[in-house]
Amino acid sequence: MNILVTGGAGYIGSHTCVELLNNGHEVIVVDNLSNSKIEALDRVTKITGKEIKFYQIDLLDKVSLHKVFAQNEIDAVIHFAGLKAVGESVTLPLRYYQNNITGTLNLCEVMEHNGVYKMVFSSSATVYGLQETVPLTEDMPLQAINPYGRTKLMIEEILEDLNLSNKNWSIALLRYFNPVGAHHSGLIGEDPSGIPNNLVPYITQVAVGQLPKLNVYGGDYPTPDGTGVRDYIHVVDLAVGHIKALERIMMVNGVAAYNLGTGTGYSVLEVISTFERVIGKKIPYSVIERRPGDIAISYANPHKAKVELDWTSTKGLVQMCEDSWQWQVENPTGYERKDELNV
Ligand code: NAD
Ligand code: UD1
Repeated sequence: MNILVTGGAGYIGSHTCVELLNNGHEVIVVDNLSNSKIEALDRVTKITGKEIKFYQIDLLDKVSLHKVFAQNEIDAVIHFAGLKAVGESVTLPLRYYQNNITGTLNLCEVMEHNGVYKMVFSSSATVYGLQETVPLTEDMPLQAINPYGRTKLMIEEILEDLNLSNKNWSIALLRYFNPVGAHHSGLIGEDPSGIPNNLVPYITQVAVGQLPKLNVYGGDYPTPDGTGVRDYIHVVDLAVGHIKALERIMMVNGVAAYNLGTGTGYSVLEVISTFERVIGKKIPYSVIERRPGDIAISYANPHKAKVELDWTSTKGLVQMCEDSWQWQVENPTGYERKDELNV
């Protein structure tokens, strides 16, 4: 099939492009490169030996988006493009609503105009907000606790409305838990700009000496060791989940949400100690106050994805740490090319 991947140059998008190409699909990427480098797609070609058709286009530019659909016979869309930094969304809410919501509205309008009704959407476990119980299941009431989360929740609702208006739509809402790790080739991985917000990229940068030490946000949560518990999921497992969701939406119409997580939660201290074992050295850290907006425990019940998508995670925490580490060591400055560094 011909699959349009919005945000395909990004972290999860690039890993999904590899799986799509390896499964015999043609891939067309639309990305404005606001949080990614074109080099990622060159590396995807290096891994798979297959070319990707790339358009540097912003989803806010509907005219250019129409041209992409006019020039390509698109069977389905995997929609990753969006801004994702929670803290930034609190200070720049209009930018987040404009980019994520308007970008998605434009995409849906252009899809509908061209008779393309199949979409896999990148949602997030953030739509569960603050829950009393874990594991989290898809039918729990949803709640947004910051503008970023609200864009995900609103988009889920917009996509539900689209399906009510026209039964041709077939949409999978994939609620990712905490994606970490990198492709085992060491060629593609997460390339955060500036100081990372998320735990694993922060740890890898401390481990290579780019940052002096890790701050552990909160040691007084109601968890076994007092630190926050999350469901870390290997990005390649996550990418495979998109292939399974694609297969499902080609067969069954409607909108359905799926948790993509492992079903196991690890504390911050467990992640640190696993990482230390993998790399054979200590990670300096201090436990400080809680980060505002953080929840104590989040992990998935991934049963629905197993039953309906035939998807289950296969890679454990050790492999997540090994692959994140390999990516960091082999690409200490991310995708910045060596020749650019010498300029
Ligand atoms: P990423 O920033 O690496 O990738 C997003 C890509 O979208 C980037 O390449 C960026 O340049 C592009 N983009 C953003 N706005 C665009 C626009 N208006 N037009 C065209 N391209 C645009 O992020 P990621 O980690 O790969 O996340 C992919 C998706 O998954 C996002 O929607 C994110 O909200 C969601 N998600 C991510 C996580 C995570 O922890 N990484 C967790 C849950 C959900
Ligand atoms: C964050 C986002 C969430 C998003 C998810 C995946 C917030 C509040 N939430 O989730 O919306 O879907 O990323 O991208 O930003 N930690 C430290 N020190 C650090 C960094 C993190 O102790 O330097 C702790 C956190 O308190 C948390 C755990 O590590 O307990 C994981 O944090 P992180 O990787 O940022 O992910 P989430 O907060 O789960």
